[in-house]
Amino acid sequence: MPSIFSASKATGLDINQFIELSPIPILRVAQDGEIIEANGAFRQLMQGTVPEDRSVQLIEFVDKEDRPRLTDALARLWANEAIPPLSLTLRLTNGEILNAFTYMTLMHLEGHPPVAMLHLFDQTEQKNLEMRFAHSQKMQAIGQLAGGVAHDFNNLLTAMIGFCDLLLMRHPAGDPSFADIMQIKQNANRAANLVRQLLAFSRRQTLQPKTIDLTDVLAELSNLIRRLIGENIQMKMVHGRDLGMVKADQGQLEQVIINLAVNARDAMKDGGTLTIKTSNVIIQSLDDLPDELLAPEDETIAPGKYVLVEIDDTGTGIKPEILKNIFEPFFSTKEVGSGTGLGLSTCYGIVKQSGGYIYVRSQIGVGTSFCLYLKHFEPELKAVTIEPSEEKTAADLTGAATILLVEDETPVRIFAARALRNKGYEVLEADSGESALEVFRDYTDHIDIIISDVVMPGINGPKMVNQLYADFAERMKDIQVVFISGYAEDAFVDSFGEERQFNFLPKPFTLKQLAGKVKDVLDAARD
Ligand SMILES: Nc1ncnc2c1ncn2[C@@H]1O[C@H](COP(=O)(O)OP(=O)(O)OP(=O)(O)O)[C@@H](O)[C@H]1O
Ligand SMILES: [Mg+2]
Repeated sequence: MPSIFSASKATGLDINQFIELSPIPILRVAQDGEIIEANGAFRQLMQGTVPEDRSVQLIEFVDKEDRPRLTDALARLWANEAIPPLSLTLRLTNGEILNAFTYMTLMHLEGHPPVAMLHLFDQTEQKNLEMRFAHSQKMQAIGQLAGGVAHDFNNLLTAMIGFCDLLLMRHPAGDPSFADIMQIKQNANRAANLVRQLLAFSRRQTLQPKTIDLTDVLAELSNLIRRLIGENIQMKMVHGRDLGMVKADQGQLEQVIINLAVNARDAMKDGGTLTIKTSNVIIQSLDDLPDELLAPEDETIAPGKYVLVEIDDTGTGIKPEILKNIFEPFFSTKEVGSGTGLGLSTCYGIVKQSGGYIYVRSQIGVGTSFCLYLKHFEPELKAVTIEPSEEKTAADLTGAATILLVEDETPVRIFAARALRNKGYEVLEADSGESALEVFRDYTDHIDIIISDVVMPGINGPKMVNQLYADFAERMKDIQVVFISGYAEDAFVDSFGEERQFNFLPKPFTLKQLAGKVKDVLDAARD
């Protein structure tokens, strides 16, 4: 074929060689869209699969969605318009995708019909980065939104559940209203469960981390999982030897494993195998992670010792195009009514909040693996754990003490105050940090315990208590502090100072839990 580039005689080199050896894929395209010639870089990109026995249209390599734009640009080019670089997605024959910034120029050479010259600049890496960045921002935004909504709902539910408890005292079992009130309370509790999942996703739920041995936890859990997955799915449990300890909230971690097992079950409608495997791993760099693991957000794993829990199924697999969405709240491919799409987002939130990482790897028709990397916890680095307050059934929850109750949400405050007064306590109410400081000044010598919300406009709970420690250091030595919040302790421990002792009651709480907490705290102080 006579070359149209042989015009360059000055160097004595054939310009075709420059073009051929250029690292940038270059094409010549005829007016009908046929590729007349492609250089080595383009052929390499297509890995020798450009058919040689027939003419090839450029459009064949271009993603369907981009084709109209390309056709339009080429038509304008031939009408002698200058075309700004076009961002095109090319589908390579091995299934990979190339994002190319495409420069187009029309070349008029004497004695030849005009041809379009295309230079393709690979932008794939940058596009991927942009997409990952946009995605992690989206996850963050949803998290904030979910956390905010959940926080408000928590307050509402605390009040609803609380007033139900108060009503139930007046309408005990046997009363005609008892069943109705129980219905309201049960539904409020279900709503509280949903809120908990949202808080888990936004990593603002209250965790009660303890040092745990996953081998024991999984062994105990295996019966439940077996029952959940049914009989046509086989379950294998492979325990790693000398498995390291991890620090996590046991109940929440169990929730993660159960969610993953249930998803695996749903993906194996015709039976299969669910494998749960644990092992110790040391991560020095990203290279230590197995290939093809996908993370829900753009964060690299920190080097260190980990306990790996791998949950594999031999199910349907997850389509590559939705793989990046599965951790989003409310993303579900299940029929309306059968999945809320909160399972994986909850897992993600819990694992992140516990300082771990979750990855997924999936192949259509082969199966899916979820890998949890949990920090190996060395128990000798003694951690401060906040033990959950035991719910004492049928215990005497009455007491005599003066409580300063600080809560800006009126319904929550009213319920809590009434509940505590019912148990015999003297309750001083304050609806803000500012008014709490005032009430404290007026009743300094009477107060035995302060119960305060954390998040309040103006002076928040921790700030208010810090102020009291500063102004009434001696008096505060005898006063107990209980924070109530729908947010995790971590969220405010910074502003409160880690060395300070405080008690914590997560919202929503029932009358019994509130009274139990007060009693526990006062009893502990007396001992
Ligand atoms: N092991 C798996 N195999 C195949 N697809 C999965 C697997 N795990 C998750 N998925 C996909 O990810 C989606 C999101 O999962 P997620 O657990 O968050 O929600 P869900 O199971 O649909 O609903 P929910 O868990 O709230 O009842 C699922 O709808 C499913 O398409
Ligand atoms: Mg699920």
